Amino acid sequence: MKTNPLIHHVLLAVASTGLSLAQAPSAPPRGPQPPNAQQQPPHGQPLQRTAMRQRPSHRPMAPVTRPARPSDPLPGLSADLLLAFSDGFEEFTKEETADGGLGPIFNQSSCVTCHLQGGTGGASDITVTRFGRVERGLFDSLDSLGGSLLQALSIDPAAREFVPREANIVSHRQTTPLFGLGLVEAIPEATILAGVRSGKPDGVKGKAHVVTDVVSGQPMVGRFGWKAQQATLLAFSADAYVNEMGVTNRFFPTENAPNGKADVLAAFDKVADPEDSIDPATGKADIDHSADFMRFLAPVRPLPLSDSANAGKTVFQSTGCAVCHTPRMFTGTNEIPALNQKAVDLYSDLLLHEMGILGDGIVQGDAGGREFRTAPLWGARVSAPYLHDGRAPTLDAAIRAHDGEGAASKIRYTKLSVQQRQQLLDFINTL
Ligand code: HEC
Ligand code: HEC
Repeated sequence: MKTNPLIHHVLLAVASTGLSLAQAPSAPPRGPQPPNAQQQPPHGQPLQRTAMRQRPSHRPMAPVTRPARPSDPLPGLSADLLLAFSDGFEEFTKEETADGGLGPIFNQSSCVTCHLQGGTGGASDITVTRFGRVERGLFDSLDSLGGSLLQALSIDPAAREFVPREANIVSHRQTTPLFGLGLVEAIPEATILAGVRSGKPDGVKGKAHVVTDVVSGQPMVGRFGWKAQQATLLAFSADAYVNEMGVTNRFFPTENAPNGKADVLAAFDKVADPEDSIDPATGKADIDHSADFMRFLAPVRPLPLSDSANAGKTVFQSTGCAVCHTPRMFTGTNEIPALNQKAVDLYSDLLLHEMGILGDGIVQGDAGGREFRTAPLWGARVSAPYLHDGRAPTLDAAIRAHDGEGAASKIRYTKLSVQQRQQLLDFINTL
């Protein structure tokens, strides 16, 4: 894996992140890039539409967006859906500007700035900050002071949001990869709920995180995010537009006020809400396009198993990893053939587990301060560093940090022979 020049290139790009953000030169205008040279949908049309939707981009302080690298769409998409993927790719990689609705406070100006490792839509070591206050065991997300998510940048220095004095918990969350998420979305709820059963080994439990989906207004099983806090890609997309970029939309029509201050918001919020509206020509808004991109984005392709990795597959089972990191689920019946009854080798049960000292103290919906969704392991070879806050530089460090419901399995891992541990890591590095 170390010799793969592609991965090396990506790691270098990510390693340079801090520097380029600190220097913050303005990004050169980027032309739209094809998602995949071979599987290109007919052109012309999306380009024209983009020109129509184009927003002025003369904001001087735009953070750097590194050039987007292509990513593959799911195999077997119809021409229409390939077009939706390609339009979505454009939107996902587009830089938002203040005139177009970015801010007043935000974290980055484009989805791809954070999601790029291993290709557009990937993870990165970029983290966002959550804060809150715990008093007598009760968590307060400090909503009225701008919590729990910090927007660390602003279109004007005077609008800047800070972690307030009142916060006694501050934690960081690393960017997760988006590869294969359409398949994850297409897994029936019943499949996830079937994982909530008693009698698992090692005292492992697992809880489905039922959330209110902002799109349907219905209670649904959450499956996306470190705390499984969103159930659908459109809901996550809408959430990311408003919370990461300050772009209000039909599901989140209200701007985040810097540290909750309405007067500061009023002084800097100059674009009418919702900033992202449906384009009559396509029937879609930006949140829909980005959701399309994620829905039709292929999973990272697994590598062939070496002898060592093949042995590691058995160790993965015998060490108890698969109790939570469920190797395979299936999508249900789906009108889109590429999502219909497909195997999803995600290596997660999509359930929340109590992870002991790994806890971040942040309560989100019904997910407690020590609970996390089992992190999917597919594509792990291109998503270092690991764990919710990126504290683990290697897979080995991530495994050794397991606690709570994961403690028994972790202890078994530490007692493996050096060779067995290497086999297990070799296996994970093929997923
Ligand atoms: C500032 C960096 C940043 C930007 C910009 C950003 N994201 Fe993310 N993204 C994150 C982080 C961090 C997480 C994990 C958040 C969590 O679970 O609390 C995440 C998680 C996600 C997930 C959940 C994936 C999973 O693991 O289940 C989706 C979907 C997503 N982002 C979509 C988007 C879209 C669409 C955009 C653009 C509108 C976007 N993101 C912009 C940092 C970012
Ligand atoms: C009790 C359920 C459970 C068991 C058992 C378990 N894990 Fe995990 N695993 C999790 C959860 C939850 C996370 C996310 C924790 C966090 O980010 O703080 C995680 C995270 C990881 C990560 C980091 C992934 C990433 O993208 O950051 C790796 C690697 C991993 N587990 C491997 C293993 C291996 C190997 C085993 C067996 C030795 C194992 N896990 C056993 C629940 C479990």
